[in-house]
Amino acid sequence: MRIGVLVSGSGSNLQAIIDLCKRGDIAAEIVLVLSNVPTAYGLQRAKDNAIATKVIDHKNYDNREPFDKAMIEALDDARVDLVCLAGFMRLLTPTFVNHFTGRLINIHPALLPSFPGLHVQQQAIDAGACFSGATIHFVDEGMDTGAIIAQAVVPVLQGDDADTLAARILKQEHRLYPMAVRLFSENRVLLKNGRVEIVNCIQDDAAVIISHK
Ligand code: GRF
Repeated sequence: MRIGVLVSGSGSNLQAIIDLCKRGDIAAEIVLVLSNVPTAYGLQRAKDNAIATKVIDHKNYDNREPFDKAMIEALDDARVDLVCLAGFMRLLTPTFVNHFTGRLINIHPALLPSFPGLHVQQQAIDAGACFSGATIHFVDEGMDTGAIIAQAVVPVLQGDDADTLAARILKQEHRLYPMAVRLFSENRVLLKNGRVEIVNCIQDDAAVIISHK
C-alpha cells in the first residue's frame, strides 16, 4: 500500500506512521510527504527517513481550487492508495475530497462527533467532559463529519488546560494512527452506507471506563 501523508507542522503523527512502516511487518510504505508550509518540521522527518517530499505552498495560489488540483496531481503521480492527513491545516475542496473518496483519512484530537473544528481541547474542557480523545475518520465534504474508523479515549483531569489535555491526547494519537494504517494495509476497513465496519475486529463489551469526576 502506497501512502501519501499531508502535514503542516511538527509531524509527530507522521513520525508514528514512519516508525510503523520501518518495522517492516506491514505491506505499506510512505511514498510522499506533502506540505503547504515550507518550514514544516514534518518535511525534515521525511528527509531523515529518505522519503520523497514536496512543498505546495497555498500562498502561491489565488484560491483553493488550483492549490488542491496541484496536490491531487502530486499524489496521483506518486500513485498513492491512501492519503493520511496528519496535522494538515487547510480545508480541502470537494474536488480533492471526491477524488480520494474512501482513501482519505484524518486524525482529529477529540471524540467525534463531539467537538469538531478548532480549539477542540478547550471545547472539551469548557463543556466539562470527563473524557476526550482522538478520532481517525474518513474525510468527506463536511467539517470533521466523515465516517469514524477508530477512536482512543483519555480522561480529562481536573486542573487540565488545553495544553495538558492536548499532550495526553497526542500520546494516544501516536498509537491510534499506526493502528488505523495497519487496518487499511490489511484491507480490513470497509465503508458501508456511510459507516465503517472492521473485518475480524476484536471486540470487548466489558471495556468500560467510568470517571470519578
Ligand atoms: C494533532 O493533534 C492532530 O490531531 C491535529 O493536529 C495535531 C498534529 O500534530 N490534527 P503533529 O503535526 O502530528 O505533531
